[in-house]
Amino acid sequence: MKNIVVLVSGSGSNLQRILDSIEQGIIQNAKVSMVVADRDCYGLQRAENKGIKNILIPRGKSFCTLLDKEIPENTDLIVLAGFLSIITQEFCEKYQGKIINIHPALLPKFGGKGMWGHHVHEAVIAAGEKESGATVHFVTPGVDEGQMIIQGKVEIAENESPDSLAQKVHLVEYEIFPKAIQMVLNDLR
Ligand code: GRF
Repeated sequence: MKNIVVLVSGSGSNLQRILDSIEQGIIQNAKVSMVVADRDCYGLQRAENKGIKNILIPRGKSFCTLLDKEIPENTDLIVLAGFLSIITQEFCEKYQGKIINIHPALLPKFGGKGMWGHHVHEAVIAAGEKESGATVHFVTPGVDEGQMIIQGKVEIAENESPDSLAQKVHLVEYEIFPKAIQMVLNDLR
C-alpha cells in the first residue's frame, strides 16, 4: 500500500477527487495518510469527514521544517493540491521525485511566482490565448519549473471570463490529477 500526504490551502476539491479516485480504483493500492494545510481551509474538513489525519501548520518561515517533522517515514508521495506556500529548496531536495503539484495553466506558460488562482486565468485571457488547461509536474526549487507529468487542455471561448475558465480548468484537473498520481506511484512515466 502506497502512502500519500496531500497539502492544501483552499477548498480542496482536488483532494476530494483524489479520495474519490482511490475509492473508485482509479488510483490503486494507495491511501491518503495525512492532509496538511498552511491555513484554515475547507480541505481540512474534507479530510476530517473521511477520518483522515489532518493538521494545520501556519504558513511562514518555518513551515517546511515543521512539515518535515510531520511527514511519516513510509510516505511515497507528497501531493500539492491547491497549495499556496512555496516549498523550500531543502525540502524539495530531500523529497526529490516524490513531490508533485497541479498548476491551472499550460506550463511553461503562465507559471512562476504570483501566478496562482484567478491571477493565472486573468493573465491567460488578457494574453488572448485560444487554449488553456492544467499541468501536473514534479516540484523542484524553481517555482513551477519541474518536469511535466501530464497536461490537459481546454478551449477558451470568445466571451470567456476568468471564473468560467477556472471552472473548465478544474474539470480537466479532476481528469489528469488521479492519472498522474497513479503513474508516479507505479513509476509509469
Ligand atoms: C486548482 O485550480 C489548482 O490547479 C490550483 O489551485 C486550485 C485548487 O483548487 N493550484 P481546489 O482547492 O482543489 O478546489
